[in-house]
Amino acid sequence: MCGIIGCVGHEGETTDVLVEGLSTLEYRGYDSAGVALGNGDLEVVKQSGKIDDLRDTVAAAGPEGHLGIGHTRWSTHGPPTDENAHPHVDCTGEVAVVHNGIIENYQTLRDELREAGHTFRSDTDTEVVPHLIEAALSAGAEPEAAVREAVSRLDGSFAVAAVIAGCDAIFAARNDSPLVLGIGDERDGVGQYYLASDVPAFREHTDRVVYLEDGQFVRVSASGWAVTDLAGEPAAPAVDTVEWDPEETGKAGYDHFMEKEINEQPRALRQCLSERVDELGGEVNVGDLAYLNPRGVQFVACGTSYHAALYGAQLFRLAGVPAQAFLASEYASAPPPIGDELVIGVTQSGETADTLSALREARSRGARTLAVTNVVGSTVARECDDAFYIKAGPEIGVAATKTFASQLASLNLLSIGMAPSKDDREAIASLRDLPADVQQVLDDSAAEEIAEAYLDSDAYFFIGRGLQYPVALEGALKMKEITYKHAEGFAAGELKHGPLALVTERTPVFAMVTGDDEQARKTIGNVKEVEARDAPVVAVTDGQSDVERYADHVLSIPESSPRTAAVLANVQLQLAAYHTAAKLGRPIDKPRNLAKSVTVE
Ligand code: AGP
Repeated sequence: MCGIIGCVGHEGETTDVLVEGLSTLEYRGYDSAGVALGNGDLEVVKQSGKIDDLRDTVAAAGPEGHLGIGHTRWSTHGPPTDENAHPHVDCTGEVAVVHNGIIENYQTLRDELREAGHTFRSDTDTEVVPHLIEAALSAGAEPEAAVREAVSRLDGSFAVAAVIAGCDAIFAARNDSPLVLGIGDERDGVGQYYLASDVPAFREHTDRVVYLEDGQFVRVSASGWAVTDLAGEPAAPAVDTVEWDPEETGKAGYDHFMEKEINEQPRALRQCLSERVDELGGEVNVGDLAYLNPRGVQFVACGTSYHAALYGAQLFRLAGVPAQAFLASEYASAPPPIGDELVIGVTQSGETADTLSALREARSRGARTLAVTNVVGSTVARECDDAFYIKAGPEIGVAATKTFASQLASLNLLSIGMAPSKDDREAIASLRDLPADVQQVLDDSAAEEIAEAYLDSDAYFFIGRGLQYPVALEGALKMKEITYKHAEGFAAGELKHGPLALVTERTPVFAMVTGDDEQARKTIGNVKEVEARDAPVVAVTDGQSDVERYADHVLSIPESSPRTAAVLANVQLQLAAYHTAAKLGRPIDKPRNLAKSVTVE
């Protein structure tokens, strides 16, 4: 949801650092982009379109400066036009601002500034900020004080960065939107520093970072950096070291980040499970979380993470702990009673506004909260009482893939660690085998042929029961978000209660049938219902049941436990969606209208 970047100390290379940084942040928004370079005067280049378009324009315009800020946008206020692209400037063109988030009181501020004679050129909420700074400067404030004054007027969520003509610093502040400071090495006596919405934007330059907190303000210049609160009281933030390599944010020869990330799942799972599984002892190590002993668990999450939460809730219930998953955006409208329940927020990015808001609601009613996230230092990790990292490594493709697998593995660890049961040894053994089993699926999958066979379909349906039900939902979400085809996931037993009316010979049904138990037999009954209506059936199966008899195509997975079969079936569905989208020529890593990190409610 919009990405911002800033850098100082790269004289002669500032534009390159900004544009390259923006290209790694493009997953956050990609409808327009721009940069502002400070070098005495300010130069602003911005336009609708992708970062590659901006790269061409800045190469032709050749702006340079010793510091600069940049932005990639995902529209909230106003369509993706050149005027609405960031940076936004004041009336004089001497103040430039980039912003991520939503300024809730922008209309009041805009009316007030208009009345005072300011002229607005865009539809955005952001544009009030440079005008507020301009007003403070013309009232005699120094640049830093003017930015502080402007920020103090803002309600809502923001990460903002501002540059002012003739000033050698970038000023930035955050509230409810991520902002990270990168601390580089000195070069020829000049310090190199960075600001960004996310670490990949500057990871090739440094691994030392400060995760800024809500309500903090930072001044960065070639002579150093200082973090304070909004009132100017100095803060002493910790400097962290990022553990992953810059190469992890490249495509490594794959056509798309999504393809790379699907193929990275064995490694991501090994990282997630490493040092947390003691197979000999039949135990998992989740640290002090093992002693939380919750009387019940409530999950809050969105999108793919919600599907992981549905799976996690089943695991806890199977271990005898009452557990429910809630869509984070719905949680606060009728919050469930909280006694000794633990509230777990599942969020890859750790910045999803709906999830943060649900967790805040739970905390305000006295709940203990746990973040299950991929991003160290993210807002969710800092706000919750505890954090459990899924350790999937950076995920750039907008469609969540390896993080879903790592979320499922993490929720296995947490349910086993917090709610031991008699099935733990078997569960731990299947987790041990999971990375190799996923590799086998990746090596042998027939998903590409199936994608080809059903490319002209009207719609795709996905059905599953038990732990395969969240997989059916996730398979449909992946298919719809990257192919733009109609896709729906259903609990297999629900098909006959309505959705069966949609089924035709032009709607393939992907049916997850694993094991050979009562659930498998019932799902096969649902497969027969579909087959009788002439719909093609793609069975995702471990071959234990006789579902293949009723299927037109088969996507095979190795035999495993029900909990890991869900991860394996999902890999097949990821591949089916990926190959369908690739054959349709879709922009797989940046699907229309979507952003990786959704920081507005
Ligand atoms: C899934 O492919 C999407 N990227 C989306 O549904 C995502 O899972 C959702 O927005 C939640 O994001 P989070 O995990 O970062 O909270």
